[in-house]
Amino acid sequence: ATIKKYQFDVQVKNISRLCHAKQIVTVNGMFPGPTIYAREGDSVLVNVTNHAQYNMSIHWHGLKQFRNGWADGPAYITQCPIQTGQSYTYTFNITGQRGTLWWHAHILWLRATVYGAIVIMPKEGAPFPFPQPYRETDLIFGEWWNNDVEEIVKQGNQMGLPPNMSDAHTINGKPGPLFPCSEKHTFAMEVEQGRTYLLRIINAALNDELFFAIAGHNLTVVEIDAVYIKPFTTQSILIAPGQTTNVLIQANQRPGRYFMATRTFMDVPIPVDNKTATGILQYKGIPNFVVPLFPSLPAPNDSNLALSYNSKLKSLNTPNFPANVPLNVDRHLFYTIGLGQNACPTCLNGTKLTASLNNVTFVMPQTALLQAHYFNMKGVFTLDFPDRPPTPFNYTGAPLTANLRTSLGTRLSKIAFNSTVELVLQDTNLLSVESHPFHLHGYNFFVVGTGVGNFDPTKDPAKFNLIDPPERNTVGVPTGGWTAIRFRADNPGVWFMHCHLELHTGWGLKMAFVVENGKGPNQSVLPPPKDLPTC
Ligand code: C2O
Repeated sequence: ATIKKYQFDVQVKNISRLCHAKQIVTVNGMFPGPTIYAREGDSVLVNVTNHAQYNMSIHWHGLKQFRNGWADGPAYITQCPIQTGQSYTYTFNITGQRGTLWWHAHILWLRATVYGAIVIMPKEGAPFPFPQPYRETDLIFGEWWNNDVEEIVKQGNQMGLPPNMSDAHTINGKPGPLFPCSEKHTFAMEVEQGRTYLLRIINAALNDELFFAIAGHNLTVVEIDAVYIKPFTTQSILIAPGQTTNVLIQANQRPGRYFMATRTFMDVPIPVDNKTATGILQYKGIPNFVVPLFPSLPAPNDSNLALSYNSKLKSLNTPNFPANVPLNVDRHLFYTIGLGQNACPTCLNGTKLTASLNNVTFVMPQTALLQAHYFNMKGVFTLDFPDRPPTPFNYTGAPLTANLRTSLGTRLSKIAFNSTVELVLQDTNLLSVESHPFHLHGYNFFVVGTGVGNFDPTKDPAKFNLIDPPERNTVGVPTGGWTAIRFRADNPGVWFMHCHLELHTGWGLKMAFVVENGKGPNQSVLPPPKDLPTC
């Protein structure tokens, strides 16, 4: 094991896309930001110095940060933000994890441009449990706005309406030739006939779940969220914001040029699909004037495909990579996902859009929750987040306006150390049904079951997969349906859980767990680092 050191200078930079020039916040002037490379067992030190006009914090999405929430990064949850002119060193060990994860700003909507890949190689001498690729590439999907994102969000909040959606998807920061002025902003990857390549795919988009395909080439999915899975071959993948997917491709087609493309998955009746990013897979020796083939992409509202794709994801579950699914449950939680409207006298219609879990809209605190918990500060949060909704109703039935108004609070849920937790996330019809990618910090969880309609506690658990369910950190709760996850609460601290659609997070679709310390050695939260920012 070695120590990997990185310097992240948060700074603004002028760039142009789609014929629009603007200033964006970057790390080290790079867009996307630098890739963190490490090996399982390494320690990583990232010193972040903030030269930008915004407060900053960086989250290492999917790293478990055992007992070490101080390095997790969500602003006002585990740390106060790094103010302009200040520095903070994130120090963490990578234990028991290898694969593709990513990092991103975790404050405001700054992750629109502040993000990058984390590549964790297996321990020295430990092979991948799939054919060794000849080369590998990161493919990070993002979103581009022609105008200033923070300005757009501010306007939306003032009016109580959603902010304008982005103007294009991007692949490694580039939208590709379907957009104006974008010929030169096209990601291209060169391949040699007969070789196998590993693509480390990351969805860093703020609000779009995405399908992805490459013309003429199948994708063999081998890993999700830095966990190996049973490999399967598919024409296209589905990836939600926050998720990562490793695929193998074989350069086994007629040498030529082939488009790779993203498409929004948005299961509403008439989805708008004008943001597709394209990149190019180019065989060695083929000239640039050859016209590329376009892949066939799933329809943007193909929710059946989404369900069937997700049902193919299964843990590898071998002696080397066992799936330790909790078989007994100490704590049953049932959370409804609601979108609604609260009163807002200053807003356009007198109401503003809001979101809730069990009818609670999360209010961000003024100081970091982990500090408040560690130092026993009073009055920052309450430990009364409800284990189930206040009044049961037909969650996916006819719209129920009575439940639209939500209660506000910084309410957390206390979990006993090492207890096993089952959480059913139930989508509802409040305002609109939609697919929601839920992310839990500090843990991986097993996705033991999923279904459409209302979860039935008397019938559905019998159908759970407790053998080889996928293990991940972000899961898509299907439109008008539910997802059940299980995890063992062996990582003490304060851990955020939220919808990874930034729009919904901003509206309050979030909460946090307080996992208590254990009584044994190495079972309590580590002391905070000396340079931890203050609020
Ligand atoms: Cu990738 Cu709390 O987020």
